[in-house]
Amino acid sequence: MQDPHISIYKDNPQVAESFAVFLAFWLKQRNRVTIALSGGSTPTLLFRHLAEQYRDRIDWSKVHFFWGDERCVPPDDAESNYGTARELLLQYIAIPAGNIHRIRGEAEPAEEARRYEAEIREFVPNAGNLPAFDLVLLGMGSDGHTASIFPDQMELLEADSLCSVARHPETGQQRITLTGPVINNARQVAFLVTGAGKAEKVEEVIKKKGAWKDYPAAHIDPERGDLYWFLDAEAARGVMDSVD
Ligand code: 6PG
Repeated sequence: MQDPHISIYKDNPQVAESFAVFLAFWLKQRNRVTIALSGGSTPTLLFRHLAEQYRDRIDWSKVHFFWGDERCVPPDDAESNYGTARELLLQYIAIPAGNIHRIRGEAEPAEEARRYEAEIREFVPNAGNLPAFDLVLLGMGSDGHTASIFPDQMELLEADSLCSVARHPETGQQRITLTGPVINNARQVAFLVTGAGKAEKVEEVIKKKGAWKDYPAAHIDPERGDLYWFLDAEAARGVMDSVD
């Protein structure tokens, strides 16, 4: 594992702007990229910021959007990760419809996991013997989960399939998630984590302290790629001494 690139910003708006700058610069150097978006609430500020400030500053036709995970709900459900991205970003940018590869949360989960896997294999070039996303954006839950790989489903970190059906341990909500091997085959993986509620897990995961082995986020270790952490000061309070 290479050391992660850790960047700490004053607050969530600065995390969003800094990641947007990173993305815009990163895209300038590339012609066609595959990006797997994360869900949850953290990326919403980033989506809004990209829509407002980067609508015309990025050639979105270069981008193929995928999702790292999706809740098994219809796209117009408030819980839908795709629905959130569409509402806050996708409807404002000039991206071809064929470049948006959503997970169909309304479909039968096991069948959709298979279909989505086939779509990834069709559009995401391999590196080694697995598809290699150019960029996987991840969040981290306060329990150390990432994508929809939860601490009680650690086997998904080593699954043979690219995607799997998961279940939220508290709500029981079914999810479809990328599994560990394809995430770790990405060329760049970026965690965006903000808020004091994540600070303890951020410290344990980055410093491999305490019960870090029990947290899925701690097992994200791109074999051929770079790992980035974009943190706000609240989430980073335990790793200030680890900054690039
Ligand atoms: C999801 C996400 C999940 C999320 C974390 C953090 O579908 O919920 O993919 O992994 O990134 O739970 O969520 P917040 O950003 O809401 O804290």
